[in-house]
Amino acid sequence: MSKKIVVIGSSNIDLIMQVERLPIPGETITGGIFHQTFGGKGANQAVGAARSGGDVTFVSCLGDDSFANDIIESFKEDGINTKHVFTKEGIATGTALIMIDQAGENCITVAPGANYELLPEHIDAIENTLQEASYLLLQCEIHPATLSYIIDKAWQLGVKTILNLAPARDLLEEQLAKLHLLIVNESEAAFLLKSPVDTIEQAKAAAHTLAEKVAHGVIVTLGAKGSYTVTADDAFMIAAKQVKAIDTTAAGDIFCGALTTALVEGMPLAEAIRFASAASAVAVTRLGAQDSAPTRAEIEAML
Ligand code: RIB
Repeated sequence: MSKKIVVIGSSNIDLIMQVERLPIPGETITGGIFHQTFGGKGANQAVGAARSGGDVTFVSCLGDDSFANDIIESFKEDGINTKHVFTKEGIATGTALIMIDQAGENCITVAPGANYELLPEHIDAIENTLQEASYLLLQCEIHPATLSYIIDKAWQLGVKTILNLAPARDLLEEQLAKLHLLIVNESEAAFLLKSPVDTIEQAKAAAHTLAEKVAHGVIVTLGAKGSYTVTADDAFMIAAKQVKAIDTTAAGDIFCGALTTALVEGMPLAEAIRFASAASAVAVTRLGAQDSAPTRAEIEAML
């Protein structure tokens, strides 16, 4: 079986402000510390998968600004295959404004820019690469029509798709049915089911409901509490490693990337989730998105 991972999705420049607390509307908070790093949920997943040991091809669309080359070089340093990272003239690379408080919680706003220029025709052009993949990893920061097209295409090609529904977005039942694994946090699960998911019991119930809609299984991530997983023949909780969080940005992306690496290696699902959970535990102890993604050795040390 192929050991290749294809990640398709967003790539952003992250403009990060560390502040004592998050402002309320209309308020100005000074005394922040500014950082600029590489992010985007898709790119973070790709880096998370590559640093944890995966053979990753990343498919994305960047703008024609000065960031594009630096981003591509950074992917290459992580050993990511960038032959399908496209650029689009006349538009900016995706940008995220991120505020982080002292507890590591964040608020993020995103201008998709070139991410929304990744089109079905790009996906047709990479069909051979997609066909060779063992797993396809997706999130929701590209244009909804392109995301739907990719899910359909991967299903036709027989490639197992893992979708992290971040940021939350409505999906047709017929598309949910084409997902091998769906990964959601509590608010994404609540969005999808149109009912509150505020407690562990509600999260478990949501996972069982959603598991009936997808091909193989659902993982509901619960932050510092861990995650709850439901497949056709199993349901289990995996506790998170307890660490002091500095910045939770991209913890979910890195979880998804490391999980995909572990699954490609043939780890059983519960073991793969433990591996992914250790990766995100390391990530939250560091500032930034891709900067926080751990190496294989760091994940194994955390395990
Ligand atoms: O999940 C974290 C990411 O969300 C950041 O890197 C930012 O770019 C936004 O896409």
